[in-house]
Amino acid sequence: VRPALVDAFGRRISYLRVSVTDRCNYRCTYCLGDHPVFVPKREVLSLDELDRLCSAFVRCGVRRLRLTGGEPLTRRNVVGLVESLSRHLADGMLDEITMTTNGALLGRFADALAAAGMRRINVSVDTLDPAVFARVTRGGDLRVVLDGIAAAQAAGMAVKINTVVQAGVNDRAIPDLVRFAHGHGMDLSLIETMPVGAVAADRAGGYVPLDRIRAALAARFTLTDLPDRSGGPARYVRIAEIGGRVGFITPMSHGFCGDCNRVRVTCTGRLVLCLGRSGAADLRAALRASEGDDALVAAIHDAIGQKPQSHSFALDQLGRPAIVRGMNATGG
Ligand code: GTP
Ligand code: 5AD
Ligand code: SF4
Repeated sequence: VRPALVDAFGRRISYLRVSVTDRCNYRCTYCLGDHPVFVPKREVLSLDELDRLCSAFVRCGVRRLRLTGGEPLTRRNVVGLVESLSRHLADGMLDEITMTTNGALLGRFADALAAAGMRRINVSVDTLDPAVFARVTRGGDLRVVLDGIAAAQAAGMAVKINTVVQAGVNDRAIPDLVRFAHGHGMDLSLIETMPVGAVAADRAGGYVPLDRIRAALAARFTLTDLPDRSGGPARYVRIAEIGGRVGFITPMSHGFCGDCNRVRVTCTGRLVLCLGRSGAADLRAALRASEGDDALVAAIHDAIGQKPQSHSFALDQLGRPAIVRGMNATGG
């Protein structure tokens, strides 16, 4: 039995987020710049390699896997990857396999994902206004996403909504989103915009501290703090009037790095130790060096020892994000 993954600050790494592609069928303004450059396909790990990589992390004690992107459902046969990885659910080595998606292709894949063992899925919805939705995603059709959510629920999956709060875009419409989500039996997580990637400097101005949103919700509803963090960065409240939960993810205004339990892998096999730091370790070389996984497991252990203590979402002197790696490379 191998030792569990514990970093230099005593944090146990039990959660892996895997970006299966950096490509996306949307172009959200806070995520992708005007001329996004994607990784050449030959650089991208095959599904077999992704399976081996995830399985090595499972051997190292990772209990939860989340597939992200880009848009994970644009990756050909990603459902096959889920089916294959679900063997670790069956043998008790893994607690869950989930996905974070923009929902555009959920209508097509919801049944297959549920059949492959996915119980829960997070869908990004920033606004319920179709025109604003099209503007933020640069071309997305809100109706298609809402139908995808309905399909996921009909397939038996629990759906959580993710909303990036942006000044002047959706910051006044959060109570409507709460009513919508809770009315359909879904939790809602609100996220502070993080300045990363090749997005223009002015977009860094979209940041709204979530304390302000919380105060606006408290003026309308009765909020009760929930102690359970559910193993993630969100702090949750229950809304007495509707019964659902609202999560606040506050990387900018209130850190949560002290009990970080996660790392990320990009679609080229780079291990990103912290979303808010530039450093990463190459796992692809170890993956390809031999058919056995010992070198890979050793490389993972080495890298975890380098995980930074906390994130830092600084801007450079021109007001551009200091972290040039786009959110589409890590799936948030
Ligand atoms: P649950 O498993 O449902 O709790 O989801 P999650 O919050 O782990 O995953 P999700 O993909 O829904 O995360 C929502 C967003 O929170 C991400 O897209 C990121 O924007 C942000 N986030 C998640 N983890 C971290 C983290 O470790 N650091 C920072 N800065 N942001 C994070
Ligand atoms: N800041 C915060 N969240 C972001 N996401 C994408 N880019 C950013 C950003 N700059 C979110 C998406 C989605 C998840 C994958 O990451 O809205 O919910
Ligand atoms: Fe695509 Fe998600 Fe980025 Fe939007 S936030 S462009 S849906 S990867």
